[in-house]
Amino acid sequence: MFDLSGQVALVTGASRGIGRAIALALARQGALVGAAARDDHAAGTVSEIASAGGRAEALSVDVTMPDSVERGVRMFLDRQGRIDVLVSNAGIARDQLLLRMKREDWDAVIATNLTATFLCTQAVLRPMIKQRSGRIICISSVVGQMGNAGQANYAASKAGLVGFAKSMAREVASRGITVNVVAPGLIDTDLTRALDAATRDQWAAQVPLGRLGSTADVAAAVCFLASEEAAYITGQVLAVNGGMYM
Ligand SMILES: NC(=O)c1ccc[n+]([C@@H]2O[C@H](COP(=O)([O-])OP(=O)(O)OC[C@H]3O[C@@H](n4cnc5c(N)ncnc54)[C@H](OP(=O)(O)O)[C@@H]3O)[C@@H](O)[C@H]2O)c1
Repeated sequence: MFDLSGQVALVTGASRGIGRAIALALARQGALVGAAARDDHAAGTVSEIASAGGRAEALSVDVTMPDSVERGVRMFLDRQGRIDVLVSNAGIARDQLLLRMKREDWDAVIATNLTATFLCTQAVLRPMIKQRSGRIICISSVVGQMGNAGQANYAASKAGLVGFAKSMAREVASRGITVNVVAPGLIDTDLTRALDAATRDQWAAQVPLGRLGSTADVAAAVCFLASEEAAYITGQVLAVNGGMYM
């Protein structure tokens, strides 16, 4: 199941956390992975994939810079000849109550979480249309579905991805391309590991399945959506949140 042999996948934000786990999982399923992050940050992910016998290359891409996205995707395409899967995962948070939120924090979050997905999708769309096949997977968040005090910028960017994905799904369905969203809940990453045990326990108590999610939980959902088994699924939001939001 979920055999991705012969597929070429590009993952943004692949240097750590969820993106790294997605890159590793796609490679394990047989895909050749372009692991993108700023500078050489994704080099460690690529070494880990290579040590496990997979194939990957590191790409230096700042997803907020149109030229950087264009150049990174073009170089990847020149070398690999095709792109079958885009996972738009790079993301940031700049939390603040709205009355105190600075315009630059609003702009930075929208640029990294939402506009970057537009830029990356536009960059891969032409080759996917030519191939008459493709999978675009956007990483949103439970916060985009239920909102969260202090995260208006983050929630708006993540909810925006849902409207973007549904519109794109309609636009490119006839070309054999599917567009879906994965919406993780609370995931055990560096971010959540930095919290004290009591706060983590409080968070886990809000989750019906009683624990934080793992990066592997999210990566498994992405592998499914990238696979042939998900060929008839498009314009959907797959929540990976332990039941936190239903
Ligand atoms: N962690 C959670 O609980 C959780 C829950 C729901 C949704 N999510 C979403 O899942 C995604 C990954 O989250 P995470 O927790 O794994 O985050 P993370 O550990 O902070 O990693 C963020 C990734 O995004 C990359 N990135 C940030 N800004 C970038 C830019 N301008 N250009 C290129 N790459 C950039 C980083 O690369 P650099 O090395 O270049 O900084 C890094 O690889 C995000 O979209 C996040 O919103 C996370």
